[in-house]
Amino acid sequence: MKKLDDFRLRLAGREYVPLVTGGMGVDISTNALALEAARLGGIGHISDAMVPTVADRYFSTSFVRNKLRRYKFNVASADKSMVHFDLDDLAEAQRLHVRSTIEAKQGDGAVFINCMEKLTMNNPAGTLKVRLASAMDGGIDGITLSAGLHLGTFSLIEHHPRFRDVNLGIIVSSVRALKLFLKRCNRTRRRPDYVVVEGPLAGGHLGFGMDWAEYDLQSITTQVLEFLKQEDLAIPVIPAGGIFTGSDAVAYLEQGCGAVQVATRFTIAKECGLPDEVKQAYLNAGVEDIVVNTLSPTGYPMRMLKQSPAIGSGIRPNCEALGYLLDKDGHCAYIDAYNEALKAYPGVKKISVAEKVCLCTHMRNFKVWTCGHYAYRLKDTARRYPNGSYVLPNAEEVFRDYQFSTDHQVQRPSAVVSEPRRQSLPGGGS
Ligand SMILES: Cc1cc2nc3c(=O)[nH]c(=O)nc-3n(C[C@H](O)[C@H](O)[C@H](O)COP(=O)(O)O)c2cc1C
Repeated sequence: MKKLDDFRLRLAGREYVPLVTGGMGVDISTNALALEAARLGGIGHISDAMVPTVADRYFSTSFVRNKLRRYKFNVASADKSMVHFDLDDLAEAQRLHVRSTIEAKQGDGAVFINCMEKLTMNNPAGTLKVRLASAMDGGIDGITLSAGLHLGTFSLIEHHPRFRDVNLGIIVSSVRALKLFLKRCNRTRRRPDYVVVEGPLAGGHLGFGMDWAEYDLQSITTQVLEFLKQEDLAIPVIPAGGIFTGSDAVAYLEQGCGAVQVATRFTIAKECGLPDEVKQAYLNAGVEDIVVNTLSPTGYPMRMLKQSPAIGSGIRPNCEALGYLLDKDGHCAYIDAYNEALKAYPGVKKISVAEKVCLCTHMRNFKVWTCGHYAYRLKDTARRYPNGSYVLPNAEEVFRDYQFSTDHQVQRPSAVVSEPRRQSLPGGGS
């Protein structure tokens, strides 16, 4: 019986264990998690979602405070159009984040960065260009373009000295999106080096409408493989979304995929950025707790635990400090929903906003508990302490389980040594 470790991903002349840990913003896929995947021979993603905020947490920089100071006069205004990111600060934050990770890298694997194109930051092309260029300046091994698929993204960086040697990949959820992207790539004479096919059972934002349940990863992957074969394009295909066991992965690898991308199994790992109590909430989740809704201001459906503290929260938009989802005109759907609620409940101190969540503030504070469809199976992958709480596995234990397990078995980590101690947030952030 085959196991994931019987296969290898070949990218730019190098070989990897065909297991990719997906990007999980905001700092859920920490550099510690990505570095473990790389040390073990796979590919680990960090994420550049809200990178100035993340840099402040780790490097004692003041990017967020400085931006707030600059625009403080505007906090009570509904018009956020003048709130912009300082592009030098953004570049510095990205370089710090990437360089510190790459410098710590060990082993034969690689560290890639997930760039969410939908973080429009009131200057979509300008901020994306800086994020991509600075990630390459910082030495990143690869960039995965996600959520947004701006057809012109490659053109933004085609003059960067690393444009032709860094690994570049895209996430698509249909063969149609892939075809469109490849057509536009011709202009830069540069194709993606890999394609992640993300199905409807993934965590985070979905590349589908609310009819997501009508699609399945297996069919989309087959269509993508057939299309690439027809076109004689040898681009590794990496399916993602609901691949829960090593045997799930093997089925895709036997079909001709280059690797698999996974995330949910790693959300409970010690190295993952979620606070421990959130990891316990994931472990306690039942199937009925996992919902797909339209609360994200990005316009994409998002999967999350229905117990997420962000749901219904009516906090004031914090765009002067954060503002990652402001579109090119300074709009965000949460601001609109918030102002509607203010109007509907004049004089009420603590309002609730039902239609949207303030993703910036709540993702930063780990209050949106996004997860993959199979999060309710996490409890089958961990052991419990005598007090009933779950023992959190190491990333290595999860990685090795994917790598070596067969027959749809999940190897639970062995020894339960002692009761858990409370752990603070990574980098002492709040
Ligand atoms: C907590 C969480 C956060 C995520 N955040 C992002 C993100 O910021 N950008 C992105 O492209 N994908 C994101 N994803 C999707 C993963 O990178 C991955 O492709 C997908 O979840 C794989 O499916 P699985 O979770 O069933 O293994 C996220 C997934 C999870 C579970």
